[in-house]
Amino acid sequence: MKIDIKTVPQAAPPSLDPKNIAFGKMFTPHFFCCEYRGGQWQNARIEPVHNFSLHPAALVFHYAQAIFEGLKAYEHADGSIALFRPEMNARRFNASAARMSMPHVDEQLFLDAVNELVKADHAYTPPFPGSLYVRPTLIGTEPCIGVKSSSEFIFFILTLPAGSYFPELPSGAGAVDVLISESVVRAAPGGTGHVKAAANYAVTLQVITQAKEVGCAQVLFLDSSSDRRVEEMGGMNILFVDNGDLVTPALGGTILNGVTRDSILTLARDMGLKVREEAYGFDDMLARIRSGQISEVMACGTAAVITGIRGFKLESGDRIPVGDAAPGPVTNQLFEQLQGIQYGRIPDRHGWVTQVVPARAAVR
Ligand code: COI
Repeated sequence: MKIDIKTVPQAAPPSLDPKNIAFGKMFTPHFFCCEYRGGQWQNARIEPVHNFSLHPAALVFHYAQAIFEGLKAYEHADGSIALFRPEMNARRFNASAARMSMPHVDEQLFLDAVNELVKADHAYTPPFPGSLYVRPTLIGTEPCIGVKSSSEFIFFILTLPAGSYFPELPSGAGAVDVLISESVVRAAPGGTGHVKAAANYAVTLQVITQAKEVGCAQVLFLDSSSDRRVEEMGGMNILFVDNGDLVTPALGGTILNGVTRDSILTLARDMGLKVREEAYGFDDMLARIRSGQISEVMACGTAAVITGIRGFKLESGDRIPVGDAAPGPVTNQLFEQLQGIQYGRIPDRHGWVTQVVPARAAVR
């Protein structure tokens, strides 16, 4: 589908020092937007960001018919700008759409829309270690209070200059404390934990607020079975260094197939690490951390990149430190490898990087 580019000349972008950008609050001037009506996508365009006018009965407000993606564009040393694995986001977007009874978005339209928007607002890409965060979103907009799938949708994409996701960690892998949610779960078998449904994030908000109150930056959720197996964090996957192996919970119906998770597992294998996809029971994980068998724990995601976990807090208030409180050697090595590929400093042996803006065109 042809995308109508209706950009409007802008004043020079503001200062884009990644240290001073709060994640998620600063937007570029344009966005991509497209409507689904009468059984087809129409009116694909890039235009200045504006508010939507939706009926208060729009299905997204009542029954959470909403999905999203997160990917990033990075400025390379030669000034070119490149996306990291956008095809994987396009595929996952449609897996989420199918689960949430939403229409398929042609993968080429998804990729063209992301490319054109990044091109249009590339001057808002912060320099290293910042990036341009891309947020494709799909919502059901038909006004209807009956519980049904919407017949009308909006697919839109926002771009946001981004620094670090965790304000306390301006650069590098860093390390944060994490609360273990022993009583609230985020997903159950047969549910939506494996797709990027907006509601998956809504159910984590109460516990994330509680985590912040006790000095934790994130939450680790356990599964809904009596084994209480370790699953996923509130928007990030989790990985452990156990006796030198890299271990992460296996994908099933309840864990998101993270692009960063997948990339790290590949890089770890390249580095000669043994990778195991298996889940720990909660008590087993704590015992292995206490004995030192688990020496490093890290969170990973597009927004969080790779962030070390320096300790877990339990609901009782007890704190279990991990390793030496700083990101360990494997965490740092994986971070350097991943970031090196994303910013074009390390050869991209897996074909993950797609240039969107060539070096000579990327002028601010
Ligand atoms: C991302 O990492 O892109 C996500 O969508 C997770 C969210 C916590 C920002």
